[in-house]
Amino acid sequence: MKILHISAECYPIAKVGGLADVVGALPKYQNSKNVISQVVMPFYKNKFTKENKFIEEFKSTLKLGESEYDFRILSLENNLLGFDLFLVDIPELLFKDYVYSSDDTDRFLAFQIATLDWVLTWKKKPTVVQCHDHHTGLTPFMISQSLKYKKLSDIPTIFTIHNAQYQGWFSHEKVSLIPEFDFSKVGLIDWGGTINPMAAAIKCAWKVNTVSPSYMDELKQSANGLEWLLNDESAKCVGILNGIDTDVWNPEKDSYLLKNYSIKTIQSGRNTQKKWLCDEFNLDIEKPLFAFIGRLVGEKGSDLFPEVFRNALINKDISILLLGSGNKEVEEQLENLKEENKGSYNAFIGYDEKLSHLIYAGADFLLMPSRVEPCGLNQMYALRYGTIPIVRSIGGLKDTVIDISEENGFGICHENVTVSEIVHAIARGLDLYKNQTKFKKIRKQIMTIDHSWYASAEEYIKLYKSLKG
Ligand code: ADP
Ligand code: GLC
Repeated sequence: MKILHISAECYPIAKVGGLADVVGALPKYQNSKNVISQVVMPFYKNKFTKENKFIEEFKSTLKLGESEYDFRILSLENNLLGFDLFLVDIPELLFKDYVYSSDDTDRFLAFQIATLDWVLTWKKKPTVVQCHDHHTGLTPFMISQSLKYKKLSDIPTIFTIHNAQYQGWFSHEKVSLIPEFDFSKVGLIDWGGTINPMAAAIKCAWKVNTVSPSYMDELKQSANGLEWLLNDESAKCVGILNGIDTDVWNPEKDSYLLKNYSIKTIQSGRNTQKKWLCDEFNLDIEKPLFAFIGRLVGEKGSDLFPEVFRNALINKDISILLLGSGNKEVEEQLENLKEENKGSYNAFIGYDEKLSHLIYAGADFLLMPSRVEPCGLNQMYALRYGTIPIVRSIGGLKDTVIDISEENGFGICHENVTVSEIVHAIARGLDLYKNQTKFKKIRKQIMTIDHSWYASAEEYIKLYKSLKG
């Protein structure tokens, strides 16, 4: 069985968020289960592509409407990733120092066309093509409808929804960019009068999955306009919880950490990273450290952070540290908050992989007051490193965190995304911290929870097997 994953992101090649972590880990676990799992992604201009060597596998010219672009398919030389990696090099469109931008329609359409032009030349076709998020959402349509890909039309496709907020909408004026198809089928790519790649994928893929079971249920109620479609297609829809790459996210081996630790050495290990964080960010090591790591966008509840932090910090017994970037207004407010809360609050506005690992290993609590959370990987990383998650019960957070008030509970959950509920959840965290016996017991308990990919990779394999090409 040969699976081809098509994605805009893949760790460690290019990462914006959790999509990269998933596409960089799932294939590795699948390969350990007698499946050949490969990844194809764009060739961006970044540190990884600069520092590694690539082999040219294929070369051609693609048509995007009236325009023509030369492209190459590259593979990675000395590949230690645990899966085959192919990169689509379209210098004019993809070789940029960013992943996403305002001209994504053309860029990702060209990426998908180049990928399919290349797959068309394969002697043995993939058993399943798995597309991730809207950037690859027109692939199931093109495979099943574009005349030039007729030879591929019996390849089963899976569409994985990591985030239904972004759907890749573009105007019908650009329909000619899609390789020719029987125009009576144009309804398959349309949703509400615009071309909607995510809707097209939900209609055309053989199976559709979300990255947690709860998120699938929630999308049927509210999916940024696609709820009706998901209800209609529910027979082919399923929720599969993401896992985490426990090779990369392992406090015993993590090379980003100052001191590695296990359950046995948790106290001294975590203390080392906490001390570093507190020295670096001018915080008091004696106080519980509440942290946030992530994109500063509405889905993560980040617009409320300035008010939440101001209110929470009235209590002088806590510290807060934030690592993130996104909305410029929120970034500025979070910067401004530093002056009035010196010694108890700090923020690093930006993206820093190493710092994120140090925070997972040194903070006491991780805040995730998300409005929407399709899965969320941060809470699973936090658990593995012994940091107690404080989450809003939604999507994958609901599927992975049990409140301490319940039997075997280990996290702090709240129902709504309001300033008062988040501040109250932080106060519950402080109470827990004051009970050091219980706090330390829970910290050890959460490190034993297994969220590795093994179980979920198996669920995907079952899904592949259910498809008959
Ligand atoms: P999403 O994909 O919605 O952003 P996830 O929880 O699935 O959320 O994954 C986020 C990933 O991105 C995690 O690996 C997290 O550690 C990482 N991350 C997010 N923001 C930053 C940042 N500013 N610096 C470093 N890592 C970050
Ligand atoms: C998306 C979601 C996040 C999920 C990630 C990986 O970015 O916002 O919740 O964990 O994809 O599937």
